[in-house]
Amino acid sequence: MNRKLYKWIACVGALAFFYNCTTNTVDEGSIEDLPPIVETVTYEGAVQAIIVTNCVTCHSGPNANAGLQLTSYVNVRAAAENGNLIGRINNSSNPMPPSGQLPPETRQIIDQWVIDGYIQN
Ligand code: HEC
Repeated sequence: MNRKLYKWIACVGALAFFYNCTTNTVDEGSIEDLPPIVETVTYEGAVQAIIVTNCVTCHSGPNANAGLQLTSYVNVRAAAENGNLIGRINNSSNPMPPSGQLPPETRQIIDQWVIDGYIQN
């Protein structure tokens, strides 16, 4: 291979790398920009479905990650009350799920459930 070709490959590689960086750091939107939720949020009405869809594959059963079970009202509430769950779903550098932050609309529902006082149903 000649040197020009090497340079070209390096250049395309660098471009792909930077493009990837910019797309990864795109602002995922903030909860503050959303209109407030006016209806009361309950666990069975909204929160449970979000947790089942996004969390229980890793946080259930005998090998639950971090030993954290998110399979019932009681244990989801406990994780929210001690601050870990809310802290991690809203943590942009170390989010839960690890694949990336949930959309702000989804995180807002869980935040509102906490504000409303962990209503079950
Ligand atoms: C792909 C697997 C996976 C998914 C999906 C996932 N988690 Fe996790 N979670 C982990 C792992 C691994 C850890 C331990 C390492 C760490 O804290 O980053 C963890 C740790 C946590 C912790 C910290 C526990 C502690 O005691 O410090 C919380 C809270 C948490 N997850 C909540 C959630 C919530 C809420 C969701 C869904 C929105 C979720 N996780 C989805 C794998 C996952």
